[in-house]
Amino acid sequence: MSAQGSPRAGINGREPSARSALFSATASYRIAAIKSHSQQPEAPISAPILITGVAGFIGHAVAAALLSNGREVIGLDNLNAYYDPALKQARLARLREHEKFAFHRLDLTDEPGMQALFGAHEFRQVVHLAAQAGVRYSIEAPGQYLSSNIAGLTVLLECCVRHGARHLLYASSSSVYGDTEQTPFSENDAADRPRNVYAATKRAGELLAYAYARIHGLPSTGMRYFTVYGPWGRPDMAAMAFAKDLLAGRPLKVFGDGRQRRAFTYIGDVVRGTLAVLERGAPARQPPAALYNLGSDQDVELLEFIRMLAGEMGRECKVEFRPEPPGEMRATLPGMLAMRRDFGFAPQVGLKDGLSQFVRWHREYYGWE
Ligand SMILES: NC(=O)c1ccc[n+]([C@@H]2O[C@H](COP(=O)([O-])OP(=O)(O)OC[C@H]3O[C@@H](n4cnc5c(N)ncnc54)[C@H](O)[C@@H]3O)[C@@H](O)[C@H]2O)c1
Repeated sequence: MSAQGSPRAGINGREPSARSALFSATASYRIAAIKSHSQQPEAPISAPILITGVAGFIGHAVAAALLSNGREVIGLDNLNAYYDPALKQARLARLREHEKFAFHRLDLTDEPGMQALFGAHEFRQVVHLAAQAGVRYSIEAPGQYLSSNIAGLTVLLECCVRHGARHLLYASSSSVYGDTEQTPFSENDAADRPRNVYAATKRAGELLAYAYARIHGLPSTGMRYFTVYGPWGRPDMAAMAFAKDLLAGRPLKVFGDGRQRRAFTYIGDVVRGTLAVLERGAPARQPPAALYNLGSDQDVELLEFIRMLAGEMGRECKVEFRPEPPGEMRATLPGMLAMRRDFGFAPQVGLKDGLSQFVRWHREYYGWE
């Protein structure tokens, strides 16, 4: 225990200073907090919860669910143009309908801005969903991934430590499993052979969170989400990209042979699982860092997914095969034992129902018949 409260080498390798003394103090406070919270469901908390990436696909859905449950939510996002910012603004507009929602346009790497935000609020829970996502773009623009997913995460971890957050729940990804043929994936797998830069930064994020749990006693839970789809989805992902081409009557571009398997996971299940973990509170183990898979326990081939989507949309579909880019995974399927064991959680929404919800939203949002 005492080793966790005393970062001997100081922050960033410097000698212990006034700043690291502050961290020591917050770390010992936190260890006391862990003892009283471990393995017990988190008592109802009235303090605001911080959600990063709140204008994003998952962030907006988690925020909406928490607001509906009466929680006060403070959201941050840099509203970057990786995909259509109008969609991010439309998600924010929905959240702004709740009076207990406040938004800050802020970049994770803006350290003074982040410290000021944490200084102004007593965040006990932080849900970190901001990231540079996307596998293919990480081949083109690796610097964005290093900046948001590693440098930005480190700023957030420092803020959580300095301001005494009790539980950081953050998004990781199924991509961390990388070069393996063995499914379903288990949280105990080594996950040390990433197939692309995105995966490498997500795995680095998990390792950083572990190090902060070890050094400062900062409790964290990493959620390894699997290919999420549903209403208000991300335009660079399969469901949205294919829906756009189906509407335009264009052939769908399939990279590789289309036989790759994915555990497409409905956004509602992702939100339910995330809230279940949040409600239970910080992990009980020492150091207090945990990882969970969260995804559908049924995978399908990409071509089958396309066939079902086209059927739901009532459109003819033509497929154009393209060479498989480097970095793609052949199959992703989560082992869900840990989520079941620790939270009694299992995904509930099958692909047919999930796609029908997605298409209903898509039709309304983009206004097609
Ligand atoms: N959607 C999926 O299938 C999936 C699967 C596995 C993991 N994840 C992870 O879940 C999280 C949420 O993903 P999503 O699908 O909602 O993505 P998203 O791109 O829709 O949302 C991320 C949000 O973060 C914001 N953001 C990015 N960099 C930022 C920065 N430096 N500072 C502040 N804001 C920043 C973006 O503007 C965006 O609104 C990410 O960490 C992602 O890696 C998603």
